Amino acid sequence: MSFQAPKGVSEYVTPRSAIFELVRDQLCAPAKSAGYQYMELPVFEDTALFARGVGESTDIVTKEMYTFEDRGGRSITLRPEGTAGVMRAVIEHALDRGHLPVKVFYQGPYFRAERPQKGRYRQFYQVGVEAIGIEDPLIDAEVIWLADQAFKNLGLKNFKLELTSLGDAESRAKHRVELLKFYETLQLDEATAARAHLNPLRLFDDKRPEMVSAMSKAPLLMDFLSEKSKSHFAQVKKYLDALGVKYELNPRLVRGFDYYTGTTFEFIHQGLGAQSAIGGGGRYDKLMSELGGADLSGIGWGIGIDRTILAAESEAVIPADLASPDLYIIPLGEDASAKTEALRIASNLRNLGKVVDISFGDRALKGAMKSADKAKARYVIVLGDKEITSGEVELKTMSTGVTKSIRISDLKNHI
Ligand code: HAM
Repeated sequence: MSFQAPKGVSEYVTPRSAIFELVRDQLCAPAKSAGYQYMELPVFEDTALFARGVGESTDIVTKEMYTFEDRGGRSITLRPEGTAGVMRAVIEHALDRGHLPVKVFYQGPYFRAERPQKGRYRQFYQVGVEAIGIEDPLIDAEVIWLADQAFKNLGLKNFKLELTSLGDAESRAKHRVELLKFYETLQLDEATAARAHLNPLRLFDDKRPEMVSAMSKAPLLMDFLSEKSKSHFAQVKKYLDALGVKYELNPRLVRGFDYYTGTTFEFIHQGLGAQSAIGGGGRYDKLMSELGGADLSGIGWGIGIDRTILAAESEAVIPADLASPDLYIIPLGEDASAKTEALRIASNLRNLGKVVDISFGDRALKGAMKSADKAKARYVIVLGDKEITSGEVELKTMSTGVTKSIRISDLKNHI
């Protein structure tokens, strides 16, 4: 009997796993440099946290959660996203009682029972950030910059940022009245009407052609923004301009969660086909109080690591030799002295941050060279009696085949 990974999960084995590590770390780097603190949270939580946090009108809660009863009869859900769990932890550990904003970042696996296709998986990976407790438009701009900068650092060019504002409660209440009036003019089927009832904005997300066409005439929230929301959004845009972050306004943008308020955005990559959103986020100014915490605002995003990898591959911006050793050492000879020397050299160089591999087993030179080649080693040295006695090796540059005599003690300066 042989086993396969469950349907629709994304997993990374060598050599692609090196790309995963690089992309994940690069996506976290701007947040780290801006003083965001790392959080490591459980992959499962109380089901009610997501039902309340993510929202009952969303596809995620109604169809896509991995929910089960644990042995103690509790309803548990594998986290479909990160924000609700972060809020739970901030409240539970009273992190919001100290210095505000609370700025955190996180990464890990998330789970949604979606129909798998390229770029859409049932277990996928995200990096996320959240900034909680301050409503300053400067925070909105910083949060958006963190994502934009991360994509740029990876070398991505073929992406755009779509931006809108979902306004405050006052803006949405006014818009809601008009939107519901508009829905009365449409013949909505029962399920669609039920969705509209839970969250009227949800229908902007309906991909059916007849709905897209009907919704093209729907009143837009952007036209109902209160003075406060309007000026907040105007300032966010000014800061983004000052930061050199390019955006397109998309007043029809709706996201898959009910918690969004105010500034909302999505990053779209043009090389990905149907699953083109590489990241998205926004403000959620009522989420924390809805989850039993203080009435504090927040803003954040999640970036899909899997899709960012596909984007990076489509733009060919990842170097091919990521997992290659800097040096490959081939010890020769019957006794253990060459192997011991290989170990000594390797550990010295590894302590200096070099990636050093050794040929194991008693392989002949030809086979060992083949392995070095396969591992895409940058340099190779062979250690025999002669080299050990003289303290000098031939350092071979694999890309050119050129060799150079180097003192063993001097290797660190040449690789
Ligand atoms: P989201 O838009 O649902 O937002 O997910 C963020 C990103 O995760 C997406 O843009 C996409 O790249 C990736 N993603 C989502 N679902 C899948 C999937 N099934 N397979 C592969 N990649 C996927 C959130 O999760 C919010 N928590 C973001 C946020 C944080 N908003 C405020 N703070």
